[in-house]
Amino acid sequence: MNFSANQITIRKPDDLHLHLRDGDMLANVIAHTTRIFSRAIVMPNLNPPITTLEQAIEYRKRIMQLIPQGISFTPLMTAYLTDDASVEVLEQGFDRGIFHAVKLYPVNVTTNSSYGVSDLKNIDSVLEMMERVGMPLLIHGEVNDPSVDIYDREAVFIDRHLSPLLTRFPGIKIVLEHITTDYAVSFVESSQQYKLASTITPHHLHINRNAMFLGGLRSDFYCLPVAKREKHRIALRKAATSGKKCFFLGTDSAPHPRDSKEASCACAGIFNAPFALESYAEVFYEENALDKLEAFASENGALFYGLPLNNEKITLIRKNVVVPYSIDICSDLGNNEKPLVPFHAGETLRWSVLD
Ligand code: DOR
Ligand code: ZN
Repeated sequence: MNFSANQITIRKPDDLHLHLRDGDMLANVIAHTTRIFSRAIVMPNLNPPITTLEQAIEYRKRIMQLIPQGISFTPLMTAYLTDDASVEVLEQGFDRGIFHAVKLYPVNVTTNSSYGVSDLKNIDSVLEMMERVGMPLLIHGEVNDPSVDIYDREAVFIDRHLSPLLTRFPGIKIVLEHITTDYAVSFVESSQQYKLASTITPHHLHINRNAMFLGGLRSDFYCLPVAKREKHRIALRKAATSGKKCFFLGTDSAPHPRDSKEASCACAGIFNAPFALESYAEVFYEENALDKLEAFASENGALFYGLPLNNEKITLIRKNVVVPYSIDICSDLGNNEKPLVPFHAGETLRWSVLD
């Protein structure tokens, strides 16, 4: 790493939690990720979800076909865990380098999670295999219990499910994805006798729960887990910029067609891919921690997944960039031709990627 007051050069980063979608949406969003990132852990919550090797291989091919010419980018595929997931299929997928991890969505917690796991007891044999072979388990850590307040669902998940799971499978590799609370930060930090890490999104570092209600109901800031109180955002910023190996970059960029966001029942998801690195850089700059950006963005995640560090470099310069109000689409999103709205729309960020 090389850095001065006006310029910072780091290894190319990886996005270790990304929704690339499929079809026209994939075609519209992929270049925003490949512009910056070397690799991405690709979420499997398509409809139908990615559960078989064939589906993952085909999906990977569709992604590869859309990578802009001359750009090197590796999509790392994941499997979607269901109640009746096959241990053999998952293990074979891992052995063959097709599945890099398994994603656990508790049923009905978020977008396309209706095929998710209804009871962790149903997946004991899968968890045993994953612990044995070192296959990472990626967790959307929220309970689906409607009696639990939405702002408490992450903490309750940790107490009810994650903590017992770690006791039963102490050797399993786990990423508690997109953490949103000081409770999760402390839990991860104090559980380092296990192989437990967390991704942190740009949006949870920038917004608190007020953003959804600023002057009206703002669905562009609605994601899951929802942003929490300010004290949690502060704890997340401290964790991300700490340099600790257990925290790394995962954008959770989750585009939805505009008519799914501008709806009386809007979808959860923030499309942050277009300015994700600039967004993280802004946080590290504000926290006086640009020297920790490379660890968070380009090293800790690769080390956790056992991937080689990227050798290519990327440079950010201290130059304002104005985030546009909308991102044009190049191919039709069904019956919706409206552009996508990026995270930070209309704002100015202070670090730009040098092209
Ligand atoms: O905000 C979110 N969007 N959270 C998720 O867990 C899923 C994602 C999506 O796929 O839209
Ligand atoms: Zn996600």
